[in-house]
Amino acid sequence: MTTEQLKEKFIERYGSGEVKGYFSPGRVNLIGEHTDYNGGFVFPCALSFGIYCLIRTTDRQTVRFASLDMPFEAEVKVEDLNKSIGKEWVNYPIGVFAQFMKKGLSFDLGADLLFYGDVPTGAGLSSSAALEVATAVMINDVYGFGIDRIELALMGQKAEHEFALVNCGIMDQFVSAMGKKDHAVFLNCDTLAYDLIPVILDGVKIVISNTNSPHKLDSGKYNERVAECQAAVKAIQPFKQIATLGEISWDEFLKVEDKIENPTVRNRARHVVSEIQRTQDAVKELKSGNLIRFGELMNGSHDSLRDDYEVTGIELDTMVDEGRKINGVIGSRMTGGGFGGCTVSLVKDESVDIFIQQVGLNYEQKTGIKPLFYVAEIGDGGKRLF
Ligand code: GLA
Repeated sequence: MTTEQLKEKFIERYGSGEVKGYFSPGRVNLIGEHTDYNGGFVFPCALSFGIYCLIRTTDRQTVRFASLDMPFEAEVKVEDLNKSIGKEWVNYPIGVFAQFMKKGLSFDLGADLLFYGDVPTGAGLSSSAALEVATAVMINDVYGFGIDRIELALMGQKAEHEFALVNCGIMDQFVSAMGKKDHAVFLNCDTLAYDLIPVILDGVKIVISNTNSPHKLDSGKYNERVAECQAAVKAIQPFKQIATLGEISWDEFLKVEDKIENPTVRNRARHVVSEIQRTQDAVKELKSGNLIRFGELMNGSHDSLRDDYEVTGIELDTMVDEGRKINGVIGSRMTGGGFGGCTVSLVKDESVDIFIQQVGLNYEQKTGIKPLFYVAEIGDGGKRLF
């Protein structure tokens, strides 16, 4: 849908007058999975698709929420914008309004809002972070609060914790707020120091394969992994003083690994610590143009997420296995939280068509589900469009 069409839809619903439009992207993570809430490194890029949000302020003391692609509408009094309204999608933007109120800021005007997303929801491409960041960037601009971008990302993350009850890390909101066209964000999730690294893929595309098996972050499995990582930190503490798994190097981990008695907790920690190392190595390889080694690290990441972290499952594993069989595939792994969702693969230009055709066929044959493919374009972080 074009921005002109979006404006028309807004006017159809709310009547004519001035309209402002904002956009924040979904993301694909190239490597560094389940490391963010462990104070580790991540390496995601913002996508060209995401969530659009149109707004007009009003002198009614309510905010009206509607979406072109999600069911459910709501009208909420401005003083009630800090109260959850259950499991509907509206709860995400409301959760963001609530974060502004928590800072002691108030809304002197009501507003009419219309949302639209072209990022697939529930596919592990961070449609929820895109929704939170689009809302945060919009509120900040329209109401003139002057909060900086990184703080807006943190507010989006808090909204997710408090209103969606997922104890997520900062990766998704950060890249949705701070991403840059044709760059990946190399982020230290402990200090929030970051580098924008140009993604120069000579003759290679980033292909996203959607298993069309919804990832279920709110199913409790995500929070279970967060808790298992905290248990690993506790088990390591008598031997090395750490506050997060991000504070122990791979070599140090090898020395204390067998002190972690619970084998599941040990495996979870092994994934996290090795993934943090892989992420740092991968960024070095990309910078020096060694895509082959970058792809091997992507493969290593998936295998570790499958074997030690156990967040893949039959659909993601089948997609990755089928992808790796294709000539011209440099690396392939799950991306995002896991338990369904998408994979990300580096595929040589000349193999992209055959990849989509062959992997699509074989995946459908094996799982009975029709997948979807997108050739990723790396876009900018959240911004005002008009
Ligand atoms: C989800 C979370 C992120 C991150 C990833 C896994 O996308 O929202 O914070 O933990 O899973 O890397």
